Amino acid sequence: MSSRGPLEGGKQFEALLKYLRDNRGFDYTGYKRNTIVRRIGKRCNELGITTFSAYQDYLQVHAEEFPILFDKILINVTAFFRDPPTWDYLGKEVLPKILEKSGPVRIWSTGTASGEEAYTVAMLFCEALGQEAFLRRVKIYATDVDDEALNTARTGYSEKELESLPASFRTRYFEPQGSRHTFKTALRRALIFGRHDLMQDAPISRLDLLICRNTLMYFTAETQSRILARFHYALDDDGYLFLGRAEMLLMHGSIFEPLDFKQRVFKKIPRPPLRERLMILAQTGSAEASDQANRQFRLHELASEGLPFPQLVVDALGNLALANIAARRLLNVRPDDIGKALRDLELSYRPTDLRGPIDQVFRERRSIGISGIEYVAIDGAVRRFDVHFAPLLDNGAAVAGTSVTFIDVTGEGVLRTELERAKQEVETAYEELQSSNEELETTNEELQSTVEE
Ligand SMILES: C[S@@+](CC[C@H](N)C(=O)[O-])C[C@H]1O[C@@H](n2cnc3c(N)ncnc32)[C@H](O)[C@@H]1O
Repeated sequence: MSSRGPLEGGKQFEALLKYLRDNRGFDYTGYKRNTIVRRIGKRCNELGITTFSAYQDYLQVHAEEFPILFDKILINVTAFFRDPPTWDYLGKEVLPKILEKSGPVRIWSTGTASGEEAYTVAMLFCEALGQEAFLRRVKIYATDVDDEALNTARTGYSEKELESLPASFRTRYFEPQGSRHTFKTALRRALIFGRHDLMQDAPISRLDLLICRNTLMYFTAETQSRILARFHYALDDDGYLFLGRAEMLLMHGSIFEPLDFKQRVFKKIPRPPLRERLMILAQTGSAEASDQANRQFRLHELASEGLPFPQLVVDALGNLALANIAARRLLNVRPDDIGKALRDLELSYRPTDLRGPIDQVFRERRSIGISGIEYVAIDGAVRRFDVHFAPLLDNGAAVAGTSVTFIDVTGEGVLRTELERAKQEVETAYEELQSSNEELETTNEELQSTVEE
């Protein structure tokens, strides 16, 4: 029996997420579970529903509940110049750097909610460039998954909603439109609002500035990682990423570096290590990019596959990650052995113990070798190998795996034996020659004394 309460995560909740994804195309599996369980649970409480499976039944008969649920999940809290010091920093430090370049400036405000963030960045650039250059150079893409919030962004704000904006901005950038206030028509064409799902849709590209504030934090670490890989792809090499106050990039030191960590402004690292580049390509969401990534992966595999000597790679968890064609033939590795724990495979102890040296490589982070291992191959022939164990250092840091290569020294051994035999023969011949010499000398002496007598 489960110890979970009726409105906690568990089988019923996972079934509900699956139902929402399969029937409504809303995939919440990448959102932090605790947050989303809490939000949907709150909605159930409002309705007096006590289990997630009852709520799923309720959704099936009340189609009008879907938008209410989405509204509960997608928190649209936002404001003009939210966290003012950060926008100050952006205006003073980042914007001049972006404008140093001539030509168009492309900005993406994603998770923009009702658009205050997009209009804030528009006002900042318009202040710096003047209206004419702003319109000529700047394009701001503002997206969100929430259509209703986007609608507010398009149709404008109430008097009250504009209150937080300094009066000078209000009068210069907004104009009344019925009971609402919309961004000045003359400037509005610099902004394009549209629906975009960060989890599913391909990113907008060639960006100078990507603003994703207070949105990333709703996603699980794995989903954040995927989204950040896409952001990296979306930004120009000298582009900037602007996150929310509470957001971190702990895991992504190799694709973004802080320009100012406190203000959460990051710079793209244009050429991260190969592994990250491949990950980025694979996660951009574009079929072409992931094809390219697959080709790169395949190329790496083939590079090992074609080596003229057997090679194995064992990963950091002790699983057989790779065996090239020569290794598969020599050690009789089957395709389904790849991925298995090395300790469960015969090759871990035949022709020699591999696990001890691999552990040593991990501990000491240096290569080691074993010479002259004898092995009776499948065809019955006796062969000798030198086995080399080398650590595979990821980025020069952690040991990601161990490469084990077998160098066939059978021919060398035969030559060495022949050389030994030849040396022996020469030595015997020399000894014989020496004793013949001695005998000759004795005979000579004997002859001499006979002559003297
Ligand atoms: C708290 S608001 C942030 C608004 C604004 N960026 C700010 O910092 O003031 C979070 C926004 O993320 C949006 N969001 C949530 N999931 C999303 C997704 N998968 N794709 C795009 N936007 C998403 C929500 O609809 C919401 O508008």
